[in-house]
Amino acid sequence: MGSCQARPIVLFFMLFGLFALGQSFDVRTGTNQTAQLNVNASEASGWQIAETLFGIFFEEINHAGSGGLWAELVSNRGFEAGGPNTPSNIDPWSVIGDESSLIVSTDRSSCFSRNKVALRMEVQCDLTGFKTCSASEVGIYNPGYWGMNIEQGKTYKVVFYITSPDSVNISVSFASSDGSQILATTNIIAAASDVSNWTKKEVLLEAKGTNPNSRLQLTTTRKGVIWFDQVSAMPMDTYMGHGFRRELVDMLAGLKPRFFRFPGGCFVEGEWLRNAFRWKETIGPWEERPGHFGDVWMYWTDEGLGYFEYLQLAEDLGALPIWVFNNGISHNDQVNTPTVLPFVQDVLDSIEFARGDPGSKWGSVRAAMGHPEPFNLKYVAIGNEDCRKKNYKGNYLKFYYAIKAAYPDIKIITNCDGSSTPLDHPADLYDFHTYPSAKTMFSMAHQFDHTSRTGPKAFVSEYAVHGNDARNGSLLAALAEAGFLIGLERNSDIIEMASYAPIFLNINDQRWIPDAIVFNSWQQYGTPSYWMQQFFTESSGATLLNTTLQTSSPDSLIASAITWKNTSDDNNYIRIKIVNFGGDTVNLKISVNGLDPDSIGLFGSTKTVLTSNNLMDENSFKEPKKVVPNTSAFPNTGENLDVVLAPHSFTSFDLLKKSISLITKVVSDAKSYI
Ligand code: AHR
Repeated sequence: MGSCQARPIVLFFMLFGLFALGQSFDVRTGTNQTAQLNVNASEASGWQIAETLFGIFFEEINHAGSGGLWAELVSNRGFEAGGPNTPSNIDPWSVIGDESSLIVSTDRSSCFSRNKVALRMEVQCDLTGFKTCSASEVGIYNPGYWGMNIEQGKTYKVVFYITSPDSVNISVSFASSDGSQILATTNIIAAASDVSNWTKKEVLLEAKGTNPNSRLQLTTTRKGVIWFDQVSAMPMDTYMGHGFRRELVDMLAGLKPRFFRFPGGCFVEGEWLRNAFRWKETIGPWEERPGHFGDVWMYWTDEGLGYFEYLQLAEDLGALPIWVFNNGISHNDQVNTPTVLPFVQDVLDSIEFARGDPGSKWGSVRAAMGHPEPFNLKYVAIGNEDCRKKNYKGNYLKFYYAIKAAYPDIKIITNCDGSSTPLDHPADLYDFHTYPSAKTMFSMAHQFDHTSRTGPKAFVSEYAVHGNDARNGSLLAALAEAGFLIGLERNSDIIEMASYAPIFLNINDQRWIPDAIVFNSWQQYGTPSYWMQQFFTESSGATLLNTTLQTSSPDSLIASAITWKNTSDDNNYIRIKIVNFGGDTVNLKISVNGLDPDSIGLFGSTKTVLTSNNLMDENSFKEPKKVVPNTSAFPNTGENLDVVLAPHSFTSFDLLKKSISLITKVVSDAKSYI
C-alpha cells in the first residue's frame, strides 16, 4: 500500500528528470545534420604535441592506495591506527574466542622505535587444562580492507614480529570471513628462548581455495602471552614484483601515461599540517614506517605505499614522476614564510633522495632500498590548490629559488592559474583544476584558445565532470571531457600535461565520485571517462594536424587529427577524433589532403566508437562493459570519406597511411588550428 502511494511522486520526479535532461541536452530527435571536416595531413603544417601531454594523477583518496593499488592485505598492520598512544585503535583487527579465553590489549613495547605500539594477546585457556577454550583455536584476525582476496594456487607471504616468555605454537591461516573455511594454513612453532626477544617470522602460504572476502588469522591453542607487531600479508604476484596490485596497474598502463603525479591532491595538504604527508616517514623498511592519519579523506595509511614506491611505480609505468609536496600550508594552518626553511630543506632532501648519488646522504637511503640508479624526477609542484592562501607566494618563492639553485633543470609548478592573467611570480608551469558540469566542460574546449602563447605552460592536472551530469561516471561526462581534451590537443603548444582526477575508487570508501577506475578486493572496471582517455593514448608526442570543421552545430561538434606511428605493426596512421555532443545524427564528409595521391590504404583502417543507448549510462561491477569503445574494421577508405556519427558519441578513425612521403605545405596562419 505504502509503495502504491509513493508512485505518483516517483513518476513526477522521473518525468521532471527527463524534462530537465532534455532542457540541458538535446534528446535524440532523429534529425540528421551535415558537417564537413578538412584535415591537412601534411606534417609540415602541424606541430609536435608535448611528449608529456597525457598522464595520470594519483591521490591517496577513496582508499586508492591503502587497500587498493598497494597489494598489502592487512589493514593497520602495526596496530598504530589510533596514533602512538595506548590504548590504541586496533580496528579492523578483532578476536577469535570470548573474553574468558583471551585478553587483547596494546602497549608500547614494540622493537620499532618510530611505531612503538604492539598488540599483547593473553590466552587464558587451552584444550586440555582446567580452563578449556571456547573455540578450538583462539587468537586475532584481520579482515583486510573490506575482505582479502585469496585465490586458489596463488602464494602469499605473511610476515610478523612476535615475542613471548613462553614457547609458542601459532597457526597462521587465511580463512573465510566467518572462519569456517580454511584456505591456507601453517604453524609457527618456537621455543621460549627463540622468542624471548622480538623475532621476525615469515611464511609462504599457498591457497587451496578462492574467497574474495577472506581474513588472516593468528591463533593458538596454548595458554600464555604473545606480543605481535607489524603483521603483513602480501601476494607474491605483484606488478613487476614491486608490491602493486597487478590488475590495477595494468589499467593504469592501458592509458600509456607519460607522467605520474602523486600523492595528492588535498592529501598532500592535510586539514592540519600535523596530518599532512611527510615523505621521510614513508621510506625505509616498511616495518619502521609510522603511518599516518590522512585527515582530509579521513583514513589511516600504513604507508607501505610511500615516497620510494611512488617513484618506483612511475618508473615501472615509463612515466615521469611529478612530486607534489606540502609547502607548509594545510587547509587550516600555515607556516609563516620566515619560518618555512626547515620545510624547504625537507624538500631538497626529498629531491636528493630521488636523484642523488648513492654516496649522498639521502641517495644512499634510496640505494639501500634497492634502487642505486637515480629516479628521473624532473618536475615538482609546490603545494596543491594553495594559491589564494596568505603565505603561499612567500613560501613558494623560498622553495622556488632553493630548488632552482640546487637543481636548475627541475621544472617547478605553481598552484596559481596563469591561463587568463600572467603570473606575478616565476614558474615553469601553472596548475589548472576544473570540476564543472558537462556543458561547461564541453565548452571549455576553448578555455585556452586566447591564453598568451608565451610564458609558463599549463598543467591541467585535475579535470572531470562532477555532480549530477557525472553521477558515478556517465557517458555524458566522458563525452564532455573528450571535447575538452580535443581542445587541449588543439592548444598543445601551450599545454604540457593533463590528467583526469581522481583516478581510483575503492567502492567501499566512496569519498569522491566519479573516478576513472572502480575496484573492490577482486574486481575492477573503467568508467566511461577511463575509456574515453584511451582515445588519447597515442597523442603525447604525436603530430597534431591542421583541421577545419564546417558545421551548423559548433556547440556540439569538435574534432582533431594527429599522425602517429603504431610500434606494434610499424605502420603510420592518421587518427581523426570527433565528439558529437548533440542528440542528432551527423553525416560528416571528411576530406584528407596534403598527401600524395592514394596515400591512404583501402584496407587496414579502423573505426572506434564510444556511445550507449542512454546518455547517463554507467559501467558497474554487474555491467563493467556497458559503455566501452567498440572497434571495427573500416574498409574502402581513401582521401574522401562519408561517415555517420551517432548521436552522443565519440568516434575515432585510424586511417592507415601507405606512404610517408608527404606534400609539404607550410600554413602560415597558426590561428586556423583553433
Ligand atoms: O581530486 C579530488 C580533489 O579535488 C583533490 O584532492 C583536490 O586537489 C581537488 O580539490
